[in-house]
Amino acid sequence: MGARHHGSPLPELATMRLDSEPDVFTARQLARAAGAAAGLDGPDQVRFATALSEIGREALAAGGARIDFVLRNPPALAVVLTADRVIPADAAGLVAAGRLVDLTVSPTGPAAGGAGGAGGAGGAGGAGGAPTVVTLAKPLAPGAVVDDARRTRLRQILAATVPLSPADELRVQNSELVSALAELRDNQNELLRLNAELEETNRGVLALYSQLSAELEETNRGVVALYGELDERGIALTRANEAKTRFLRSVSHELRAPVNSVLGLARLLLDPAGDSLTDEQRRQVELILASTKDLLTLVNDLLDLSKAESGRLEPALEQVDIRAVLAHLDGSLRPLATRPGVELVIEEDGEVGPLYTDETLLGRVLRNLVGNALKFTEHGEVRVTAARTGDAGDTVTFVVRDTGIGISAEDVEQVFEEFYQARSHLHARTRGTGLGLPYARRVCELLGGRLDLVSELGRGSTFTVTLPRDADVCHQADAEEGADSPLTPGEAPVRVSTALVVDDDPAFRMTMRRLLADRADRVLEAGDGHEALAALHADPPDVVFLDLMLPGLDGGEVMSTMGADPALRDIPVVIVTWSDHDTRRGRGPGSAVAVLAKLTLSQRAIDAVLARVDALRP
Ligand SMILES: Nc1ncnc2c1ncn2[C@@H]1O[C@H](COP(=O)(O)OP(=O)(O)OP(=O)(O)O)[C@@H](O)[C@H]1O
Ligand SMILES: [Mg+2]
Repeated sequence: MGARHHGSPLPELATMRLDSEPDVFTARQLARAAGAAAGLDGPDQVRFATALSEIGREALAAGGARIDFVLRNPPALAVVLTADRVIPADAAGLVAAGRLVDLTVSPTGPAAGGAGGAGGAGGAGGAGGAPTVVTLAKPLAPGAVVDDARRTRLRQILAATVPLSPADELRVQNSELVSALAELRDNQNELLRLNAELEETNRGVLALYSQLSAELEETNRGVVALYGELDERGIALTRANEAKTRFLRSVSHELRAPVNSVLGLARLLLDPAGDSLTDEQRRQVELILASTKDLLTLVNDLLDLSKAESGRLEPALEQVDIRAVLAHLDGSLRPLATRPGVELVIEEDGEVGPLYTDETLLGRVLRNLVGNALKFTEHGEVRVTAARTGDAGDTVTFVVRDTGIGISAEDVEQVFEEFYQARSHLHARTRGTGLGLPYARRVCELLGGRLDLVSELGRGSTFTVTLPRDADVCHQADAEEGADSPLTPGEAPVRVSTALVVDDDPAFRMTMRRLLADRADRVLEAGDGHEALAALHADPPDVVFLDLMLPGLDGGEVMSTMGADPALRDIPVVIVTWSDHDTRRGRGPGSAVAVLAKLTLSQRAIDAVLARVDALRP
């Protein structure tokens, strides 16, 4: 039936009974009208109306209900449906309505279970239960005011609402469905749009991320490349330094052989036993000899330096008497101390005791330093002192102090570099190439010590050599050394039938040929190691004079091949070398019977060697 409106001041806007199917339509239309009047939007009106009609159907199945429309505070539109009996809590209409609007059900009826839930048969609700009250509520827009005036207005609107025919109601519901579908589609479109936006954002974030990581990678690559370049430069620097050392060594070595030959030939020309020269010729040859000696000194300096630098200089350690070293220094340098205003003082400070080191190398270092001091001092003195130092007295310090021109602070480290010479007015008058100090420092390091310099321009310089008293390198200067008596010439020169001279320098072979002219019936020559071995097999000699530095197969290899061959093993070998280091050791490598220094080659030395070869003969 239609809505029955109260005229009373009750809060209800409208009240109606629900007893038949058309009443459900009416309730629905009132709900929509109330929603519209209370300011709910279209979709909410439909939700509200639909929920009420769903519940209404369940209430009808349970025997009918009373429905009150109310406007509440806080502002909300509510519908209270009081069923005549119990509506089961799991009734489909109740559940569907719960999805559309907020609703409270009280008291909660027991679930009907089975077919009863569908609400078919009347009175299916549990008998004896309190009737169900369902309240649907929809809050109004924020700021809505609920007062009596408003209620009155709504009451009038609802009273004027004319129930529609079922056909009209169907049309309305259809259009509601259409608009619900449209709303759904809009929502879906909105969702799609949001998704696309999200995706876009994600893409942006990804792009940013990959750009950042690309940048990071780029930076990393740069750092790696930078380090690589640094390493490469370091390697290049080391290589350049090695190349310099190699260059010095090979150039000086290549120079040494011809210079030695010139020296030997000049000596032979001056030999009183040789052809006589005119005075003029003698004077010229003496000049050649003097210049060649200078040249040889330079070449030797270079070679020494490069050997010290490449670690190929092996110190020969022995017990060294410091007093003897100082005396020797005095003897060899006093002739250089020719400036009238300069005094050379060499002294031992206290009892220094013996030192275990390489005497020749130490002598060279000190001669270099004192030579410099004398060169660069015009007034005052050059003082050399030796003293025992170190906390435990385990070092010996040689100090070379002068009152000369001194060295500026910028030059103090530079003077230890090859060929560096500080500018001074004295350089025009002095000789030198700038190799003395670098060599001296390398040698000091080689002997386990150091060379330091303190100097002040115009006041003088102090060079300090500090050496360990016992260079704890292998102590190879053993007692056996004494057994190697120095070469002494025999009474009458020894003669051999065949001698083989192996050297790649034809000038040197010629020198040897002359020296052996009266000592051997035949002198054979070989220019390299392979030729030497062929000659040895073809015509075994009584003695071989062997140069160690040979092209192709070198002297050492020739010797080991000979040692492994029973036919050649017993042929005595004399090593001929430019290295005074080898000669100081007395014996060459392997089975050599003697070592001859090219530098001091003489008839006497040859005779002494031949005497030793003779003595070894079985
Ligand atoms: N006692 C010193 N007083 C002042 N300057 C010195 C002294 N010793 C060395 N120097 C400076 O150091 C430079 C290098 O010395 P170094 O001994 O290496 O070479 P050199 O004496 O010029 O030549 P070389 O020693 O090769 O004959 C000298 O040219 C000189 O400028
Ligand atoms: Mg010098």
